Amino acid sequence: MIDLRSDTVTKPTDAMRAAMAAAEVGDDVYGEDPTVNALEERVAALLGHEAAVFTPTGTMANQLGIRTLVAPGQELLCSDDAHVVRAELGAAAALAGITTRTWSAPAGRLDAGRVAAMMRPGAGPHFVSTAAVAVENTHNFGGGTIIPLAELQRLHDLTQPVGVAMHLDGARLWNAHVATGVPLATYGGLFDTVSVCLSKGLGAPVGSVLVSSAERISRARVWRKRIGGGMRQVGILAAAGLYALDHHVQRLADDHARTRRLAAACAAAAPGLLDPQATRTNIVVLDLRGTGLVAGQLAQTCAQQGVAVSALGRHTLRAVTHLDVDDDGIELACRVVPAVLTQAIDRVA
Ligand SMILES: Cc1ncc(COP(=O)(O)O)c(C=O)c1O
Repeated sequence: MIDLRSDTVTKPTDAMRAAMAAAEVGDDVYGEDPTVNALEERVAALLGHEAAVFTPTGTMANQLGIRTLVAPGQELLCSDDAHVVRAELGAAAALAGITTRTWSAPAGRLDAGRVAAMMRPGAGPHFVSTAAVAVENTHNFGGGTIIPLAELQRLHDLTQPVGVAMHLDGARLWNAHVATGVPLATYGGLFDTVSVCLSKGLGAPVGSVLVSSAERISRARVWRKRIGGGMRQVGILAAAGLYALDHHVQRLADDHARTRRLAAACAAAAPGLLDPQATRTNIVVLDLRGTGLVAGQLAQTCAQQGVAVSALGRHTLRAVTHLDVDDDGIELACRVVPAVLTQAIDRVA
């Protein structure tokens, strides 16, 4: 079975496991795990920030970042399909009393001017004040969309003067960096807090990192402990992250090339379901609205033929390449998925 459901399904390689087994460890709640400390310092430096905190998940890194920027009763703005609002199960509201307001973002695209028009900073005491904007780069449910640097800069220039902070959900910022060549620190410099995941395309079994100022990270550490994220000898996990940074960043370009092959094959079979030119990273999304096709049924048929893809709701089919998908795997996907689409389209015609 070729598993294209997500880039979270990768298994650690033998070399990564060896690095984990050899890791020096200590009690990270005491700040004494040298491998965690090394990972935090390295990721903070890569993103051009003062400090970092290791978290078990991207969700926790996002939520810690957001809560350092937004007070209870204030609001966060984000896209309607952002992971923080669609897949973190109301965490900002449930855990931090934060209101979220969304902008509509076809394919995950960002229009800084439109977002700025939604902002209502300093609206208290009678109304909800906008405290932060969250941007996702690359945008997962949008189809691995890269948010152009110029648009991020524009948003920064519009938010900064009015005191609205910016959080980057950079679970797949590595992919944006490899696809565009924009340095990680250039992205990082536009944001007050940035979360990055080691457990997606980089292939670590677990782990994310939040970077920000030293002051915000020390507050994030308190909240990490409070919600049960204070871990002990987790150098064993941080070592996987360090290994991934050394060995698995540049290879993301291979994932991107394989995804483009799949996107081109799908577009040839079913033009209109996607724009293959828009597929630039490791995610391809097919928009089935108005076609009569049902994502769950297509995913089931693909799985019966050895290719697992995700149905995101009724109308969206997603395939994601990663470390555990090679050229043979993508070749199989390029045969199966377009054929399943063609048969399904013929059936509904
Ligand atoms: C864009 C984005 N942000 C955050 C996360 C959360 O990561 P985790 O599953 O580690 O909580 C994901 C997970 O897929 C994601 O795609």
